[in-house]
This record gives sequence, C-alpha cells and structure tokens, in this order.
Amino acid sequence: MDSMGEVRSSDTTILVFDSGVGGLSVAQSILLRLPGIRIVYVADDAAFPYGTKSEAVLKKRILDVILPLQASSQADLVVIACNTASTIILPDLRTRLTIPVVGVVPAIKPAATLSQTRHIGLLATPATINRTYTDQLLNDFAADCRVVRVGSSRLVELAESYLRDDKVDLEALRQIILPFFMSEEAPESSAGLDVIVLGCTHFPLLRQQLAQVAPYPVSWIDSGDAIASRVEQVLGGQNLLPQMQDLKTHHLVFTGNADLSEPFKKHLMGLGFTRFNWTQNYLAFSPSIDQ
Ligand code: DGL
Repeated sequence: MDSMGEVRSSDTTILVFDSGVGGLSVAQSILLRLPGIRIVYVADDAAFPYGTKSEAVLKKRILDVILPLQASSQADLVVIACNTASTIILPDLRTRLTIPVVGVVPAIKPAATLSQTRHIGLLATPATINRTYTDQLLNDFAADCRVVRVGSSRLVELAESYLRDDKVDLEALRQIILPFFMSEEAPESSAGLDVIVLGCTHFPLLRQQLAQVAPYPVSWIDSGDAIASRVEQVLGGQNLLPQMQDLKTHHLVFTGNADLSEPFKKHLMGLGFTRFNWTQNYLAFSPSIDQ
C-alpha cells in the first residue's frame, strides 16, 4: 500500500483476515447481511498456506500482519475469517487491540444439532483437525456423535485456483471427500453420515462442486452466517451499524503477488465486492515468514 491513509474512511469499516481467498466466503455472508459495511480484506497469501505451519510461526506472523493494517485502516472490528488462525490467535489479538475481534470456529455445534444419524464429518485443514480446540468443541457439542475427520491442504489450494482461474479438478475433490463415505453403513441406513462441517473458510467456495461429487446428498455446514450475525450484533452494541445501505468501495490487500485475473474479478463481484481497490505485494510493510 503506497499510502497508509488510503484505507481510512468515515464509513463503518471491518477488517476481514485470512491466509488467502477463503475469508471471502465469510465476507460474502457479512455483505449479504450488512450491505452498507465497508470491508478491508487482508489475505496473507505470501505465507499461504497456514494449515501446514506451526502455531508459533503463525502466531507471530498473524500479529505482524494484522496490527499495522488495523492501525492504518482504523477498522472498527476485526474478523479472523480463518479457522486455522482463530483456533490459536484470538486471546493474543484481543489483548493487543481495543476494538472487538470476532473469530470463526468449525460449525460443530450446529452440525451436531442438525444430524439425525449422529454421524458427522469434519473437513478442515490438517492443523485445525489436530488442534486441542477442535477436540474440545467435539467433546462439548458432539460427544454423542460418531465423527470422521478429514484434513486437506490440497482442497485449500483447489479453492484458491478455482477463484483465480475458474477451474476445478472434480476427481481430486471426489478423492478428498471419499473417507467420509467409506463407512459400512448404507447412506439410507439410520447410521449413515448426514452432515459435513466445512471447517475451513476456503471450502464454502467449492460447496456446489463438493455436493456434486458426493455419492449421496448430505448437509454441508459452514460458519459464514453465524459470523455475520455476530458482527451485526457486536456493531449494533456499539452503535456502529451502517446507516446507509449504499454499496461501499472495499479495499483488498494481498501480501503476495496475487494477480487480479478476469475470473478472479468475476468471482469477487459474485461474492459482493462490486467496487474495490486492490493492493498486491504488501510485503514492503510486512515481515518475511519464518518456515
Ligand atoms: N482459510 C483457512 C481456514 O479457514 C486456512 C487455509 C490455509 O491453510 O491457509 O482454516
């Protein structure tokens, strides 16, 4: 970003953060609920993917990227639109910021409520699958469910390339979700898996294609609407709900060299980003990632 003042605005502004384009699925839910909100979307694609990195590396990196951008954008609220980041950074971030921070966690509670067969799937990054935070959620809300966990970084990459070049390898998707459907129970049996949690914000971007390759219909649950509702509630509590519903000019900040291809522009429009400024290669201001 050439001028740090560029992202300032008198409109109610929220900073939405992810390692890449996944948080756009959350931003879409927020824009549907609050069309008059202004979004500064931050993608730390220079450090992508997060799902294969250690907690220590990610903690430092996330603070290094978010804190200066929050200060320059003067956002009223921060959304960590990344499950992998949320499961480790929320307490640290909340002690460092004076504005509210909303995180996203896998929608295990609504999935367990919805499941008739008490047999659910959790599709997330390898990091999220293995976090104690996730164990705790499963223990608290799905203790009576049989849960199949599938961790995939490949699916995160497939969602990234879908937005960038519009192509999806359906056979690769089919292979990734196969373990959910390997159980001995027939789908129509009362024990067959009936709900899959999309526990990574990239995955709702491929919801249609995932449903298309599933051997039988299941419910696919994500956290987008719950996050949007929480954002509305928190902003309302601070008297910061946008008064005017006119569409704002958003700002997209990518730390890496992401290109704004034609398919990407089209997807951004579809996700609610009808007007936006674009900054790529924000590395001049963000430190390098330790591997
Ligand atoms: N979108 C992120 C999430 O919700 C993670 C993607 C990554 O591995 O970088 O977990």
